[in-house]
Order: sequence, then structure tokens, then C-alpha cells
Amino acid sequence: MRWPSLKRCGLRVLERIRQLLRPNRGNVVIFVKNGKERVARRWFNRIHGLKISMTGQNCTVRLELPIDAVASKLVLHGWNTFVKIGSGALLKHANIVCEGGNRSSIAIGRNVHAYYALTITVANSSCRIGNNCMIASNVILRATDCHPVFYRKTGAIANFQKRHLEVGDHCWLCSCAILTKNAKIPNDTIVGSMAVVTREFSEEHTILAGNPATVVKTGVTWEESNDYFWRPEWVDGKPSPLPQKKLASKVGN
Ligand SMILES: CC(C)(COP(=O)(O)OP(=O)(O)OC[C@H]1O[C@@H](n2cnc3c(N)ncnc32)[C@H](O)[C@@H]1OP(=O)(O)O)[C@@H](O)C(=O)NCCC(=O)NCCS
Repeated sequence: MRWPSLKRCGLRVLERIRQLLRPNRGNVVIFVKNGKERVARRWFNRIHGLKISMTGQNCTVRLELPIDAVASKLVLHGWNTFVKIGSGALLKHANIVCEGGNRSSIAIGRNVHAYYALTITVANSSCRIGNNCMIASNVILRATDCHPVFYRKTGAIANFQKRHLEVGDHCWLCSCAILTKNAKIPNDTIVGSMAVVTREFSEEHTILAGNPATVVKTGVTWEESNDYFWRPEWVDGKPSPLPQKKLASKVGN
């Protein structure tokens, strides 16, 4: 086992002291465990693997335990920001950032599994991820452009912001998918790897792919468990259909 260096330990102690001395500015973290809420005004390292930093004012973070996090960050620079992470979440190397602005919000539903390096950015905007979603590596959800674009002649703003990005329940975002500020995907949608979703989609049970993303398959659903995926008949290209009962429970999600 490698011991942390003296310098690292010193830095951790200093950070801890800084957190304790810093004026609170109305920022709170609410922990919800077994239906009971507990408001914490000092939250330094309360959840192992999720570092929370709030430099704005009147921000609220609501964490429904248990949450499993590894080297993840929640950074709130804005004012009156609200962030909710539902129970059963798995966050690995996730970066959840409110870049600034007022009344931004991020709501992550229950049992959302983000496997590696999810980035969510909001500013004066909101992002909602439904329940039971699976997010593969390097997915980016950007509910803001962060910088304005103008028409040179009129000075009018060109990148109008709708302020909302939404992912429905039971969606699978494959690796490196990007959802931009106006994106909205309905329940039970699969977004293919490297897809760039820039607008609203309304049909459920589809695969979206490409840049800009379009519907490439309809009437599909998916499952996080991959036990049967390795069976020989699946590898040989003659997959046996899933049991109807199992399928019905997925589709009726
Ligand atoms: C979304 C996905 C699962 C769909 O797989 P599939 O159902 O076998 O899709 P197909 O290969 O039959 O593709 C259907 C069509 O969509 C296109 N397509 C599929 N994925 C695409 C993508 N990521 N980008 C662009 N086009 C894509 C195919 O070219 C094909 O087009 P065609 O009908 O004109 O030939 C798969 O493409 C994918 O992205 N896999 C990555 C999974 C991943 O990230 N796993 C990480 C672990 S969580």
C-alpha cells in the first residue's frame, strides 16, 4: 500500500480548515436516508468519492443515499442552484458543474449508473436525467453553451438557449454521446456512441445515432444486465428472443 505524502496530508488538512472557516452563504447539503432528511451545513467529504464545492450562494444539494461515487466532483458556482441525486446512483469520475448564473438545476433520478467520466454542465439552465438510466464512458450533457454567439450586423443573439435538457426514464447513453442545450429524449431511448443530440425527440423505444442524431431503429428496448448477451446463440447471430414477461416489464417502464 502506498501512503499519501506528507505534502498531500498537509494540503488535505488545510482544505478541511478552509471549509470549516468559510462563510456558509446559505449553501446546504440535504442527506436523505431511509426517508429521513438531515440538513448539513458542513459537508466536507461526507460521501466518500464525491467532492462537493459550492462557491455561490443559496445553493441546495439533495443526496438520497445510498450513492456510490468514485473520484467524482460536484461544483456549484451559481446562485440559487438546486442539485438532486437519487438513491442507488453510481458515479465514476463524474464532473457535475454549475458554471454560474441563477436558478440552475440538475436532477438525477434513482438508480442512474454513470460508468466513467460523465460531464454535466448547466448555467441559467436545467438538466434532468430520469430513473434507471445507464450512461457509458465520456458522455457529455451540456445544458448551456456557456458563451454567446451574435449576428455581426444586428447584434442579435444567435445561440438562443431554451434552458432545458432532458433524458427520460430507462435511457442508455452509449460512450461519447453528447446532448446539447435543446436536447430532449423520451423514455426508453438508446443514444448510440458518438451521437450528437441537438433537438427534441418524442417517440419512445428508439435508437438515435449520428451527428446530428436521427432515429435509426424503432420498437427496441435494452437491459443493463448482459448475462444472456454472452450466450453462444447470441454470438452466432441467431439470438433467441427475450422471455415475453421480461420484455413486457421493460417496455411498460
Ligand atoms: C446504439 C447501438 C447499441 C446500436 O446497435 P445496433 O442495434 O446493432 O445498431 P446497428 O449496427 O444495426 O445500426 C443501425 C443503423 O444505425 C447506424 N448506427 C448505429 N450506431 C451508430 C452510431 N453510433 N453512429 C452513427 N450511426 C450508427 C448504423 O450504421 C446502421 O445504419 P444503416 O441501417 O444505414 O446501415 C450501437 O451502435 C452502439 O452505439 N454501441 C456502443 C455501445 C456502448 O457504448 N457501450 C458501452 C458500454 S455501456
